[in-house]
Amino acid sequence: MTSIPISRSGRTGPELYLRAKKRIPGGTQLLSKRPEMFLPDNWPAYYSRAEGCTIWDLDGQPFTDFTSCGIGCCLLGYADPTVNAAVMDRITRGSMCTLNSADEVELADLLCEIHPWADQVRYARAGGEAMSIAIRIARAATGRDTIAFCGYHGWGDWYLAANLGETTALNGHLLPGLEPTGVPQALRGSALPFRYNQPSELEAIVSSQKGKLAAVVMEPMRHDAPSDGFLEKIRSLADEAGAVLIFDEITSGWRSHHGGIHLRLGVEPDIAVLAKSISNGFPMAAVIGRARIMEAAQRTFISSTYWTEGIGPAAALATLKRLKSVGAVSHIEKIGELTREGWRAAARRHALTLNVGGIPALCTFAFNHGEESRVLMTLFTQGMLDRGFLANGAFYPTCAHTPEIVSRYLQAADLVFADLKAGLANKTLKNDLRGPVAHSSFARLT
Ligand SMILES: Cc1ncc(COP(=O)(O)O)c(C=O)c1O
Repeated sequence: MTSIPISRSGRTGPELYLRAKKRIPGGTQLLSKRPEMFLPDNWPAYYSRAEGCTIWDLDGQPFTDFTSCGIGCCLLGYADPTVNAAVMDRITRGSMCTLNSADEVELADLLCEIHPWADQVRYARAGGEAMSIAIRIARAATGRDTIAFCGYHGWGDWYLAANLGETTALNGHLLPGLEPTGVPQALRGSALPFRYNQPSELEAIVSSQKGKLAAVVMEPMRHDAPSDGFLEKIRSLADEAGAVLIFDEITSGWRSHHGGIHLRLGVEPDIAVLAKSISNGFPMAAVIGRARIMEAAQRTFISSTYWTEGIGPAAALATLKRLKSVGAVSHIEKIGELTREGWRAAARRHALTLNVGGIPALCTFAFNHGEESRVLMTLFTQGMLDRGFLANGAFYPTCAHTPEIVSRYLQAADLVFADLKAGLANKTLKNDLRGPVAHSSFARLT
């Protein structure tokens, strides 16, 4: 085992975060970027620079990123030179003016070429808002209100309405504990959850909501593969109900298939929503769909000034070309496989019990040690930070991660696992923590 230098994060980031929490409710704009989710009091929190898979904190300390890597946005790696060049060109020639960006049309053609079932495209700049557009179009197209959904789809009222009245509806849907405070009570009963690979739950919704179901919304695949015939059954239930089938490809898109993962799974929706890695870190989102449904966007009001700026489409065009030319899908699959195998091997060596999950392009692990599990994950993050890595139990590989970088990460993880095993055996885990245990759900942050 080669020895790896211990390098602690500086204090500028954690101190700035204390100031942020006084000025910015919740401290950050995204739950998944809250330092409490990683290493309370000691996470670097802010960056000065990011390139490839390296992030420099405010004290200039570099870390190799083995987390969700820009929350799944930067498949090509941070500050990709080709995407940056396209964006700089757009900025130099003006990113916003009174007329429209011609790139919108080229991108729409490209998205419909990649997804031959789709005819038309609307744009937004973030995943959650694009989902709200998709829901509005589905409601406008069907003249109905009720939504059946599975999984997480952002912060919109239409989605949080599921937790009105009974606060547990969103449990088991990726982010439990989301409060619907501020969502109109009138929306109660308008969003009904079903679980992945449980078609009978959607069947029950379809039969109880005859003539009322506007849309069926889900990620075609996230952590688990669809069981035999599951997606086909969902497709036929949506057809039977006369509802619009919406696939949320905000996170799953592009990483294990060029386009939406549904193209690989062989089931076509009526609408798909693409965001995040479509533009490698620049704000962009697309709602693509069949013409007979998308035309309903003309009968309602969906319109926003910055949906017309030019950086998003320029970044998306450059990103999609680059993802294809570098063979992103196979590289990311290989890196994810290597990492998952490395986690399993290190756990075996140190007799730790891990649940390794997800797909190679979105891989996860959790310690399976009962009450000690969250302490173990916090200590893993702490130990990896000391060794120059940003790391927790979710790794979304990028094109910037090479097998050599994975190997260095796994060497560090092996050393940390050894420490965790010793802490478990000696019952000293809690003494090793330099701050509180990481939070695990929304409820714990409010
Ligand atoms: C499946 C899915 N839908 C919707 C969203 C929300 O997207 P955004 O955070 O860009 O609003 C996310 C974000 O993580 C997501 O993973």
